[in-house]
Amino acid sequence: MSRTTLAAYLDANATADLTAVVTRIADCCAAIQEQLRLGDLAGVLGSAGADNVQGETQKKLDVIANDMLKDALQACPQVRGIASEEEDSVVAANTAGHFLVTYDPLDGSSNIDINSMVGTIFSILPAQSDGELSEAEFLQPGRKQSAAGYVLYGPSVMLVLTTGKGVSMFTFEPGSRQFLQTVSNVSIDRDTREFAVNMSNQRFWASPMQEYVRDLLSGSDGPRGKNFNMRWVAAMVAEVHRIINRGGIFMYPYDNRDPSKPGKLRLMYEGNPMSMLIEQAGGKASTAYAPIMEVTPTDIHQRVSVVMGSADEVDTAMAYHKK
Ligand code: F6P
Ligand code: MN
Repeated sequence: MSRTTLAAYLDANATADLTAVVTRIADCCAAIQEQLRLGDLAGVLGSAGADNVQGETQKKLDVIANDMLKDALQACPQVRGIASEEEDSVVAANTAGHFLVTYDPLDGSSNIDINSMVGTIFSILPAQSDGELSEAEFLQPGRKQSAAGYVLYGPSVMLVLTTGKGVSMFTFEPGSRQFLQTVSNVSIDRDTREFAVNMSNQRFWASPMQEYVRDLLSGSDGPRGKNFNMRWVAAMVAEVHRIINRGGIFMYPYDNRDPSKPGKLRLMYEGNPMSMLIEQAGGKASTAYAPIMEVTPTDIHQRVSVVMGSADEVDTAMAYHKK
């Protein structure tokens, strides 16, 4: 059976400029997965000994993947600037480029050392000027995204992509080094019996979130009248991928440990791109109060609380917050 290549898909679903940017990212992720597959053999595991701008220890592979994407995108004439979870400030690429790219080079990086799932998340925004690049140019709400996606480095390597015309999935074929379309018109079930949240943080959540999760846990004995299953991979890419495939709700809620951080996840590298994919697949993505993609960023590294997945379940979670 001959499958649609990523190139053919982009030909039909993106402008030539956007195609060039997505292709660069996909090619770079194909190279990143080669490093990941070698694991300890390539000596790329473990900590690089430095802290990133968020105060977390960087893994060697975080640094490697970040540098690979930065180099690939700076060499792409259509890219005007880059913001990365692993860079303190925005990085200029080509002044005349029409797009800005933000990315999390290796999401779920605590999984690297245990040979478990990780991914690359990216968001593509329209450029706002052709003068000197500034951080302000990046501070656009997620609704403005031209495209978004992730690459999941799992048992098979998959690219999940939207250019604003629905969501498609591509599986990497190592022989031809191509991403081939394996699922089109992805649609997330409205209803679910599965949730994902790090329960160890429960006591730090706001009371509406505590009540919502308490009712999920009471299952058929509680007000929801049905039992829920729970999953936690500790890599957002893997959680969102599961939800895209079989429904569910994923949460990284507000927690009261540090009032300057409304959640753990980053709006521009994680929240917005995943929200575009989820909404394009018929799901919902909220801060618990409003759509994530309506938040106007004030800082490229800002955090956001996240409740996303099956539309009816996200509505239910939001209803607890309106009480
Ligand atoms: O990038 C942050 C991240 O690694 C996400 O991929 C994941 O969902 C979350 O943090 C895991 O958090 P925790 O360490 O609380 O399980
Ligand atoms: Mn991440």
